[in-house]
Amino acid sequence: MAKILITGGSGLVGTHLSKMLKNAGNEVTHLSRSPDPSGDYPTFTWNLRARFIDEEAFSGVDHIIHLAGAGVADKRWTKDRKKVILESRTAGIRLLHEYVIRLGIRLKSFISASAIGYYGSDTGTEVVTEASPPGDDFLARVVQAWEAEADIFREITTVSKVRVGVVLSEKGGAMVEILKPIKYFLGAPLGSGQQIMSWIHIDDLCRIFQFVMEKELSGTYNATAPNAVTNEALTRLLAKTVNKPLFLPNVPAVMMKLLLGEMSQIVLGGSNVSAAKIQKQGFKFSFTQIDHAVKDLLE
Ligand SMILES: NC(=O)c1ccc[n+]([C@@H]2O[C@H](COP(=O)([O-])OP(=O)(O)OC[C@H]3O[C@@H](n4cnc5c(N)ncnc54)[C@H](OP(=O)(O)O)[C@@H]3O)[C@@H](O)[C@H]2O)c1
Repeated sequence: MAKILITGGSGLVGTHLSKMLKNAGNEVTHLSRSPDPSGDYPTFTWNLRARFIDEEAFSGVDHIIHLAGAGVADKRWTKDRKKVILESRTAGIRLLHEYVIRLGIRLKSFISASAIGYYGSDTGTEVVTEASPPGDDFLARVVQAWEAEADIFREITTVSKVRVGVVLSEKGGAMVEILKPIKYFLGAPLGSGQQIMSWIHIDDLCRIFQFVMEKELSGTYNATAPNAVTNEALTRLLAKTVNKPLFLPNVPAVMMKLLLGEMSQIVLGGSNVSAAKIQKQGFKFSFTQIDHAVKDLLE
């Protein structure tokens, strides 16, 4: 099987993906800023600021999957934070490329996480595909730079970019954040509640990474389930699933803007993202309906 080096393998997606790839018989190793010696995978150090990667990390590697990046919703978007969000994604790729070239590593593929933020924070109800134009807000510009950086690997190997949607997992991310106020009887849809959330069950997302790797697909692929839902529909479904009432009015958009500043775009905007391209390649989603996905994760 293959030897796969994952950056950001310690994160929400990386943990799930590593397990899936290992269970399929692959050898999985991680690159981390702070390796945990008791972790489940051999983990090597990298340091973007010092432009350092432990060269051992590249020994025998077939594929690199780049997931590392500072959390976009972790802190308010100050000027400094925006720089960290961008550079934690792009500088890592540049550094990996430099080492791969210098060490003469023959990669079968370089796969980078990307995000549906590419299309802009709010594209309304119109269905967007991989061929749709990019947006023009902060995250859209970050994603464009991130994907362009990944393409530097095209001179030596197959490159694919997986435009990740709103990942549903019981271990973290959007679903856990929506559930927090619901559990304290404070849940409510955000803003109009009509913004579209192009979600994906974490298992399907990791299966897409595996699929793209095994088929050595190149180019960009949206990773979102075929049937997106509104923020209100998801909030109501989650409340019902955990048997909590939802009686408060929607949280006004202006309040979200005051609380989160520019970052409020993440929760107030939405996009209806097509899954057709990856399906045309033969990928079959296990979870196409939100109630099925939520039931699987929470029950
Ligand atoms: N989760 C989602 O809903 C979602 C949606 C769209 C796109 N994505 C993208 O998919 C990728 C994986 O997402 P995730 O949810 O697994 O993210 P995550 O849980 O936040 O993990 C990302 C990993 O990146 C590394 N990292 C964090 N800050 C960093 C920094 N400043 N510089 C370098 N590395 C840093 C960390 O690994 P170490 O601490 O071990 O270095 C961390 O475990 C990310 O690029 C994310 O933007 C996720």
